Amino acid sequence: MATVTYDKATRIYPGSDKPAVDQLDISIEDGEFLVLVGPSGCGKSTSLRMLAGLEDVDGGAIRIGDRDVTHLPPKDRDIAMVFQNYALYPHMTVADNMGFALKIAGVNKAEIRQKVEDAARILDLTEYLGRKPKALSGGQRQRVAMGRAIVREPQVFLMDEPLSNLDAKLRVQTRTQIAGLQRRLGITTVYVTHDQVEAMTMGDRVAVLKDGLLQQVDSPRNMYDRPANLFVAGFIGSPAMNLVEVPITDGGVKFGNSVVPVSREALTSAADKGDRTVTVGVRPEHFDLVDGAGSAGSLSKDAPAGVAVTVNVVEELGADGYVYGTAEVGGEQKDIVVRVDGRNVPAKGSVLHVVPRPGELHVFSTSSGERLSD
Ligand SMILES: Nc1ncnc2c1ncn2[C@@H]1O[C@H](COP(=O)(O)OP(=O)(O)OP(=O)(O)O)[C@@H](O)[C@H]1O
Ligand SMILES: [Mg+2]
Repeated sequence: MATVTYDKATRIYPGSDKPAVDQLDISIEDGEFLVLVGPSGCGKSTSLRMLAGLEDVDGGAIRIGDRDVTHLPPKDRDIAMVFQNYALYPHMTVADNMGFALKIAGVNKAEIRQKVEDAARILDLTEYLGRKPKALSGGQRQRVAMGRAIVREPQVFLMDEPLSNLDAKLRVQTRTQIAGLQRRLGITTVYVTHDQVEAMTMGDRVAVLKDGLLQQVDSPRNMYDRPANLFVAGFIGSPAMNLVEVPITDGGVKFGNSVVPVSREALTSAADKGDRTVTVGVRPEHFDLVDGAGSAGSLSKDAPAGVAVTVNVVEELGADGYVYGTAEVGGEQKDIVVRVDGRNVPAKGSVLHVVPRPGELHVFSTSSGERLSD
């Protein structure tokens, strides 16, 4: 077992002037499950391959435990990688696939058999050990690929989108199995996905990358509650956080016909940048519905508080419903998503009046995108 450290690790592909991974700094704890997530092309696989030794490191360093592995060949790093396409040998049985790396390493037959059988038991593969990969389901193949990594008892597991070939239901099941297995084995794991739900449900911590740059590394809870910038705010959470540019007023921000209080520090730092607006973020579950007739809390005595959202589509999920609507905020038509009670959803075409719940508002600088609120 071991820690993993990316120390300002940079990769610039030949012929490119822009780093694919730009001074990546992450310290991963012993036994931790760290998920790298971000949109296509943000540098997730490159980061993982740098740790595996499959990609050169052009700047900075990578350490596993106290060992500087920056320029070590893959075989000397004591890691095992699980790829998206599993890369099983089609002509070998499951048992031979799982034991292959040990055989190459010269481990004796009895010991290989023992390790393969142990791993097969953990992975529920015992009855398939004599089969060829083509006679297995996608999920079983995926588990063989895991088994091949487990038998090597590496210091670090690396996984690059290992579930993306599975259908939606199996992906959810296997996600839980992998996370559970990792916790039992306690092996430090770096896991790559572009799926933020996978990241949030599996990781002890999640690292969000964009354009080769680390945006935030945090626990799923903190990532959701305190996104560090507009990018993370919009990327983490489904449906996504509502992000709207609004004018700054005395003591807060003007959200339709309401003033929503915002900390003085947030407003001061916006003003220091010369901004006259901030971008506020409200999660769909953090809007309160207000009475359309009353004007309590409204800036205008003829109009209800908050903003009026015209309901375009209602998504009913049983317990919850999501209203997809449009509203005029800050002089612009904006798409707004509001979570409502699943048993009491509004009709299409109707109008809801909503205000952000106090204390649940995220405030970002419109110019730099950085988080201004606590
Ligand atoms: N061998 C290569 N040569 C040159 N550029 C590359 C190479 N591999 C990747 N890149 C570029 O580096 C950037 C990061 O690629 P990378 O494969 O790490 O992205 P990713 O986050 O894994 O994306 P995806 O979710 O699509 O797998 C991209 O802009 C990509 O085009
Ligand atoms: Mg990739």
